[in-house]
Amino acid sequence: MIFDEEINQVVRNLKPSGIRKFFDIAVKKKNVISLGVGEPDFITPWHIREEAINAIEKGRTFYTGNKGLLELRQGICSYYKRRFNVEYDPEDNCIVTVGGSEAIDIALRTIIKQGDEVILPTPAYVAYAAIIEMAGAKVVELELKEEEGFKVTPEALKAVLTPKSKAIILNYPGNPTGGIMTREDYAKIVPLIKESKIFVLTDEIYAELTYEGKHCSIAEFDEIKDRTVVINGFSKSYSMTGYRVGYILAHKELIDMILKIHQYVIMCATTPCQYAAIEAINNGDKDVEEMFLSFKQRRNYIVKELNRIGLKTHMPQGAFYVFPSIRCTGLSSEDFCNKLLEEENLAVVPGDAFGKAGEGFVRISYAYSLDQIKKAIEKLEDFLKKYGK
Ligand SMILES: Cc1ncc(COP(=O)(O)O)c(C=O)c1O
Repeated sequence: MIFDEEINQVVRNLKPSGIRKFFDIAVKKKNVISLGVGEPDFITPWHIREEAINAIEKGRTFYTGNKGLLELRQGICSYYKRRFNVEYDPEDNCIVTVGGSEAIDIALRTIIKQGDEVILPTPAYVAYAAIIEMAGAKVVELELKEEEGFKVTPEALKAVLTPKSKAIILNYPGNPTGGIMTREDYAKIVPLIKESKIFVLTDEIYAELTYEGKHCSIAEFDEIKDRTVVINGFSKSYSMTGYRVGYILAHKELIDMILKIHQYVIMCATTPCQYAAIEAINNGDKDVEEMFLSFKQRRNYIVKELNRIGLKTHMPQGAFYVFPSIRCTGLSSEDFCNKLLEEENLAVVPGDAFGKAGEGFVRISYAYSLDQIKKAIEKLEDFLKKYGK
């Protein structure tokens, strides 16, 4: 290594994403079935694609204001009111970002400083810990339990709170567990959040994929709304991963600060994609509903089949992942996935890629056709004949 000393050691020491590491191996093999990626398999609905094309045709290809097109922010705020009964003002409380990814990054970098602790319920989406570490803060894992539906309980939160706690990250419906938090679940932790004066970063990117009941945003709780930063985006609900459009909803004071980072490092989200997003948020409810029904059908199928072949799998209440326990095989998550890829040409993600609480599990995405899911189940069944107990 010629730049070892010169390169920022925090970056040097970051572990590459456990998902990527695994898929670099998978893509090199032939005839691999992959249920690894968290990306809807539907083509973006035509009326949404058409708006991106129209924008390019009409020459709407210049920078927008830093916060994003006002019409899009109006659409986002009326969507949050309409769907989740939370009120935000398009001028004061909203920034359009480059996916939920940028939103998480700039919100966290605004809130946390060197030496702060950020509570991260794990297993968790892989980007959070890396971003927290890059901001010089410490990740404090709150280990979620399968038997508690992977929810954050007041007891578990109390156990990890310290005077240095600056924020907690909540991601419900969750990647990788598919867990959700209901209004009643949130009501139990809101007093603690209020009392300890921590910020809440709530990543609601899978909100539209809530299978039982309706998604509840923790921003509904007035007593902590000012301390809550909502992250959301278009990737998952509208099958628009490549458009890279997301957003932040938060108190004006926070938005003003977050905007400083956004304006220096990004300027604005891609303009034609913002036009496509306006179409999605204003006229995309029917598409969301159709994709939702398809995901729900796949979820019901895969959970039933995994349990039938002997992998204990709880019924996820949201998102498009199942998180079966692989303990019956006696293998570690990593060994399970390596052997499955090697011997059956099937790629899934080891649970420990999402934090140590994920050991003993694997993440399987069902954002794939039923046909592929069926083939994958056959492979898993063969695999368990060798390794199941
Ligand atoms: C929980 C969660 N948050 C955020 C993202 C990032 O989404 P995007 O940047 O495409 O909006 C993902 C993507 O997988 C995710 O699973």
